Amino acid sequence: METLANIPVPGEVLDEIIEKQRGKPGMLLATLEEAQGKSQWKYLPGETLAEVSKKLNIPYTRVYSVATFYSYFNLKPQGEHVVVVCRGTACHTKGSKALLDEVADILGIEKDADGADSFYTTSDHLFTVKTVACFGQCAQSPVVEVDGVIHSNVNAQKLLKIMSRVKKKKPEK
Ligand code: FES
Repeated sequence: METLANIPVPGEVLDEIIEKQRGKPGMLLATLEEAQGKSQWKYLPGETLAEVSKKLNIPYTRVYSVATFYSYFNLKPQGEHVVVVCRGTACHTKGSKALLDEVADILGIEKDADGADSFYTTSDHLFTVKTVACFGQCAQSPVVEVDGVIHSNVNAQKLLKIMSRVKKKKPEK
């Protein structure tokens, strides 16, 4: 596993985004959304948040609060495909820890001593794996989201099929 290089959204790209959004309602959210979409690894590095704060003349703490409040925004680089395993109580009871381990096995990732890895990206940048506290779909646990699509009652076999399927197609940009 590795951490992808920290690459801020280029200043001129941010300028274009901001010019398009300036004065519109929800300008900050829309700017952050578009900036994330333009970032190579679909995330908002600290430098980008600072630039947005400066260019929009909004305090950094507010920009940061918005970026951390919405789970849509990523503060760490994302691989081409993103697998999110729910680690809430209902999903845990139905075996989500085993599923998280299964994902690591499928991807050939060595788990750390206590198997607690909850965020990593494969060295080929193909998959990012992370966890979430609850998807709000506890009745269908265990729940796993792959590339934005929620899958319920997931078991190891189903997960393997889903991951093989997404691996074959390019993610939507
Ligand atoms: S605990 Fe997993 S969806 Fe709620």
